[in-house]
Amino acid sequence: MTPEEYREKINAALDACFVIPQDWPAAGLAEAMRYSLLAGGKRIRPMLVLEFCRIAGGNWEDAMPVACAVEMLHTYSLIHDDLPCMDNDELRRGKPTNHVVYGECTATLAGDTLQAEAFGAILRSALPAERRANCARILADAVGLDGMCCGQYLDMLWEGRALTEQELTDINSRKTGALLAAACQMGVAAAGGSEKMLDCAGHFGAALGMAFQIRDDMLDVTGKVEEFGKPIGSDLAEQKNTYMVLLGQEGCEKAVNKLTAFSKDILNEAFEDTAFLHTLADRLAVREK
Ligand code: IPE
Ligand code: IPE
Ligand code: MG
Ligand code: MG
Ligand code: MG
Repeated sequence: MTPEEYREKINAALDACFVIPQDWPAAGLAEAMRYSLLAGGKRIRPMLVLEFCRIAGGNWEDAMPVACAVEMLHTYSLIHDDLPCMDNDELRRGKPTNHVVYGECTATLAGDTLQAEAFGAILRSALPAERRANCARILADAVGLDGMCCGQYLDMLWEGRALTEQELTDINSRKTGALLAAACQMGVAAAGGSEKMLDCAGHFGAALGMAFQIRDDMLDVTGKVEEFGKPIGSDLAEQKNTYMVLLGQEGCEKAVNKLTAFSKDILNEAFEDTAFLHTLADRLAVREK
């Protein structure tokens, strides 16, 4: 599979979610959920689920509900991240943000509902019960009190004050790294892979996630809005602590390259068929969107 082929399959599976009768009283809630879910993200996290399932010895098709779940969870985090009380952004995936279209109340609820439905999608899947439970636990840990929500809290709490590199890592490993690492691990868990594979997938995802957030911080300064699909200069306007502030552009480029090389090396510890992931990591290191 190529990334494009995976993306097509993922988009088709997501498009089948939350299709409800128009005369249902809460049809507007489903519409708001689908608006952001289908707005055209890169689908990196679901792709990681499917590919790790495959290289851990499973059928990637079996992991599709888990792949959809991580994209639902991620989309919830984006809807809430854009709210006026958080990053206050009006453009996402090249379209007006959820609250701009549907209002803050519906946007908040669309996010809440996507989070619950993510766990539902895993738990309702046809995977063996133990694998479902493992995937749900990995996702809960990645999002909860020491995961993405913690990272988002620290991101907000420490706005406007100079941070050490360690503090910035404390934020970003959680707000971005945790979900990417979880996507990799859930793929392994869906395939019933070994502990060694789970560890290796987690380390790969964490390193990839750090590189990913550094690149995101760079594009917030140097990107083009038509490609990036998000406002440029949002971090500065919100007095965010970013790698651009801490390391500068050259320092960021070096760090992305180092982390990308490191992530690819790590894979050798437990996997053999790593060509797809190597290509993906290389592409993400120079992405413009
Ligand atoms: C954006 O994630 C949020 C960050 C963690 C930086 P993506 O860059 O994966 O966004 P989409 O899913 O492609 O829109
Ligand atoms: C947010 O990081 C990561 C999330 C958990 C959503 P950013 O605030 O930098 O993400 P973007 O740039 O808005 O996508
Ligand atoms: Mg943010
Ligand atoms: Mg943001
Ligand atoms: Mg950003």
